[in-house]
Amino acid sequence: MVEIDSLLHAGYHNPAQRPWQAERTLTKAALMYPIFITDERDSVIPIPSMPGQSRIGVNRLEAFLAPLVAKGLRAVMLFGVPNDSVKDAYGTAADDPEGPVIQAIQAIKAAFPALLVSCDVCLCEYTSHGHCGHLFPDNTIDNAASVRRLAEVAVNYARAGADNVAPSDMMDGRMRAIKQGLIDAGLSHRVSLMAYSAKFASALYGPFRDAACSGARFGDRAAYQLPPGSRGLGRRAIERDVREGADIIMVKPATFYLDVIRDAKEIAPNHPVAAYQVSGEFAMLHHAAAAGVFDLKAAVLENMACLQRAGCSLIITYFTPELLDWLD
Ligand code: PBG
Ligand code: ZN
Repeated sequence: MVEIDSLLHAGYHNPAQRPWQAERTLTKAALMYPIFITDERDSVIPIPSMPGQSRIGVNRLEAFLAPLVAKGLRAVMLFGVPNDSVKDAYGTAADDPEGPVIQAIQAIKAAFPALLVSCDVCLCEYTSHGHCGHLFPDNTIDNAASVRRLAEVAVNYARAGADNVAPSDMMDGRMRAIKQGLIDAGLSHRVSLMAYSAKFASALYGPFRDAACSGARFGDRAAYQLPPGSRGLGRRAIERDVREGADIIMVKPATFYLDVIRDAKEIAPNHPVAAYQVSGEFAMLHHAAAAGVFDLKAAVLENMACLQRAGCSLIITYFTPELLDWLD
């Protein structure tokens, strides 16, 4: 005889009841699509490390985005991919008015005014050494100079029309500097700040670094991105970025770090929490599906449900185009 309090099946026997058991259901409005902008304006260049993804030239953006917007795309995140010749020690090209990011912001806002444009803010795509900030002569990070430059870049993206700026560099104190920069520029009412707060020094960024040509030329990022095993630093970074004026808190990567997403929701219950399913996660799912481990759609939808269960309300994912179809 089964006890009454051991009966669970009734609550989810009928498929219509299953979504009721989740706190959040995936909608198109929860998705942000990261895209790579090449400075070859007329090109679409497939990215070998990221199945189905390409670097898009500014002149090809409208045609690339139009079908996605028609399917319900609400938000994109931009990454610039300049050629090597413009890179220097300071990331001067990051906010070049003729460079890929500022050109793309203007092109997208002109073609799709309602599409939210977020810009990743970092220097690694633009520095000759490939690090995310400025370096002292001994190659350690010059945090103060890095923060000044990052704030300048973020404000210039905002001036060009970006709706959201998202610093991924992991310098200390950059949220406050960027928020202050937005205030001083009179933009703080319309441009939000998404903090890559708990961004870990992960093996899962490899395909992205191929895509963005942004790998460090020497050393690694372990002295500024967080140690993967550290829960405490993740929590402290989230607390700090809330204090410094972040509007959205992000955790990255996503699926290896579900506990950190939960921590973020607990530490910042009144902020939206974003999860960035990074390039390595995207590639793993593709390769596993191609090897017959699982059906891609089933695995991706399960992954999304689990990110939401952990506590996020915004998911940054390269699967956005597929999800716009699957969610119909
Ligand atoms: C730039 C940046 C990276 C990613 C987002 N912004 C790479 C890195 O930190 O090395 C990773 C995104 C992905 O792997 O999809 N700092
Ligand atoms: Zn970087």
